[in-house]
This record gives sequence, C-alpha cells and structure tokens, in this order.
Amino acid sequence: MTNDFIYADYAAATPTDSRVIAAMQPYFSDIFANPSSAHAAGQKTANAAEGARKVIADFINANPEEIYFTASGTESNNLAVLGVSKANNNKGRHIVTTKIEHPSILNVCRALERDDWEITYLDVNESGEISYSELEESLTTQTVLLSIHYGNSEIGTLPDLKKISEICKNNDVLFHVDACQALSYEKIDVQEMGIDLLTFNGSKMYGPKGVAVLYVRYGVDIFPIIYGGGQQKSLRSGTENVPGIVGIAKAVEIIERQCEDDKQTVFQLRNDLETQLEALGLKINAKNGKRLPNHLSVVFPNLKNVDVVKIFNEQGIAISAGSACSSSSIVESDVLRAIDLSSEEIQATIRITIGRETTKKDCDQIVAICNKLLSERI
Ligand SMILES: Cc1ncc(COP(=O)(O)O)c(C=O)c1O
Repeated sequence: MTNDFIYADYAAATPTDSRVIAAMQPYFSDIFANPSSAHAAGQKTANAAEGARKVIADFINANPEEIYFTASGTESNNLAVLGVSKANNNKGRHIVTTKIEHPSILNVCRALERDDWEITYLDVNESGEISYSELEESLTTQTVLLSIHYGNSEIGTLPDLKKISEICKNNDVLFHVDACQALSYEKIDVQEMGIDLLTFNGSKMYGPKGVAVLYVRYGVDIFPIIYGGGQQKSLRSGTENVPGIVGIAKAVEIIERQCEDDKQTVFQLRNDLETQLEALGLKINAKNGKRLPNHLSVVFPNLKNVDVVKIFNEQGIAISAGSACSSSSIVESDVLRAIDLSSEEIQATIRITIGRETTKKDCDQIVAICNKLLSERI
C-alpha cells in the first residue's frame, strides 16, 4: 500500500499478502491445465488443488473430503442454506437465524420465505448477542438448520459457538457458521465446536478474492445449487479456480503462523484507538460483548456517516459507513437497527476496521481527524 493512504476498511477486504500472490503466480501460467483433465498437466493442477484442500481441512480440523471451494462467501452461504433446505425439506421447512446476519444469509432466507419456508430471525441485545434460551425455544421438530455468524461484519460480535452447537445437537438441528470475518484472528475447530457447515472466504483473510470455502461435515444431507460437469463430487460443479484455491491455502498457512501475533497487535491498536475516540465523546457500539479484535463501530454525532466517510476519504483514509447506502437513498443497517440504535444513530455510525498493516501512526491520524471534525461541528 502507498504511504500516503491509510486503509481502515479491512472488514470490506484485506490486501492479498505478497506471499500469497507469489504462491498463486505459477498457476496462471505454467501450471494452468484443467484439473479435471486426465493428462499429466491436468493431474499436476489437480494435485495442487488437493494439497490446498488438505491445508484448509487441517486448519479447521476437518477431512479434505469435507472441503468444497466456491467463488465467494455469498455463494458458500447460499449453498449452505439452499442446499440443506432442499435436501431436508422432508423433515420440515423451518430455519433459524438472527437479525444481524450478512445479506447473503438474510436475503436467501427471505427468498425461502417466499417459497413457504418459515424463518425465525432471533433478536439480539445491544452487544449483538442472541439469547440462548430464546434460541432453544425457537427450535421445533420442523427445524432443519440454524445459521449464525462468527464475527459480525458491522459490529464484530462473536457468539458462543460451543453453546449453540450443543443446543442444535440436542434438538437434531444442523448448525451452519458464517465465519468470513473471523478466521484471521479466531481459531475454529469444527469437531470440537460441533459445526456441521462452515463458510469462509479468501478476501477477508489476506488471500485472493473470488475464492471461498464451504466445509460440509461428512453425512450432512445437502443438494447442489449449481449443476454442471460434476466437479467437487457434484456439489459444486464448475472448473476449479486453482490459483485462488492455492492462494487461500497459502493465506491459511500464514494465518497459522502469525495469527496470535496479529491478534495481539490489532487488539492493542484497536483498544487504544477506542479509548481515544471515547475520550473525544464518541459512542462505541456493541463494545461490551465478545467481539473481533479489529472492529470499531462508532457513532459520530451531528453528522451523516456518508459525509464522514467522504471527509475521511478526502484526507486519504478509507473507512466505511455502518449502514449500506446508495447515492439516492440511505438504507438503514439491519444490524444497527437490531441492536436498538435510533435512526439518527444508525445514520451517524461509521465502521473502522484495522488489520495487519495498520500502525499507531495511522490510528493517531484517525483520532486527529475525528477531533478536528468534532471541534468544527460543536
Ligand atoms: C460475515 C460475512 N459473510 C459473508 C460475506 C460475503 O462474502 P463475499 O463478499 O465473498 O461474497 C461477507 C462479506 O462482506 C461477510 O462479511
């Protein structure tokens, strides 16, 4: 990244690590053959993809046969929800999720509702946490799946996966976790945590864009949502993106080595930043629950978040609004509404997410701009 640009939007995308790019490079040019081809060149590519599958499987304590590569976190989430619902609708037509999921879960659930599925969207408290007793009460004999995030993309909430898994197991309900935001910092062991399906993507873990993973525990009934040549045991047809697959595996190897150090560094920087912003009088959303170490959701009084993002951008700092927006209208964030923020607060919320390359100087610069904005406004 260039020196005059401060990037604080790691929840939207992480830079691809140069070691990942180097690992991918040969698979664009020298080792390019189709992994389904029977010739030696194809087999070489296939072997690379299988090696990567093993790395990914080891990372989450799964078996390689339980790992499927897709093109995005959105696709993995859609495959989990649609694929499980299609395969299990003889059991019932009920899914439980929360009000603060990523749109790739919420919108696929809304689509299922139009197809006569019943969806329960669990409420959350001001920290983004569900009530475990409400979860238990929501499950019925008709419930086929519970889908929940691990690391909410706007406020960073980390639910207690083990507790949720126990509730699911006791009620014979499949358990899907969307961990796109978490794996650079939080370890997931699918066996220990009792997870049946797990989503994560390259673009949020210093890997490449255009590649993601869906772990599907052996024995889970799931149908494809894409039909074609039968690749990946017919669950996800389409020629595999081998450079991307090699890249996400390399990203995982790097995380294995430096996850703890990265976590400590961003946690310290984020906490210092948070303390300084609070000292300026800014409110931090969802700060009391267990959350990701690099997330900050901040209410900026008397200003619209779109304007704050614009001002930061003019100063060479990339942050994002806490709510999705288009040029003509502001769409209020489901997440921020669910944690009971007023409309005014929702439209004043910005998201600052830091990462591996963030420095103390970057954070000081963010504080300085916030200070300037506040003193000019008040
Ligand atoms: C929690 C979460 N789930 C799913 C996605 C979707 O991932 P992708 O952009 O790879 O489709 C994102 C991306 O922002 C996310 O943060």
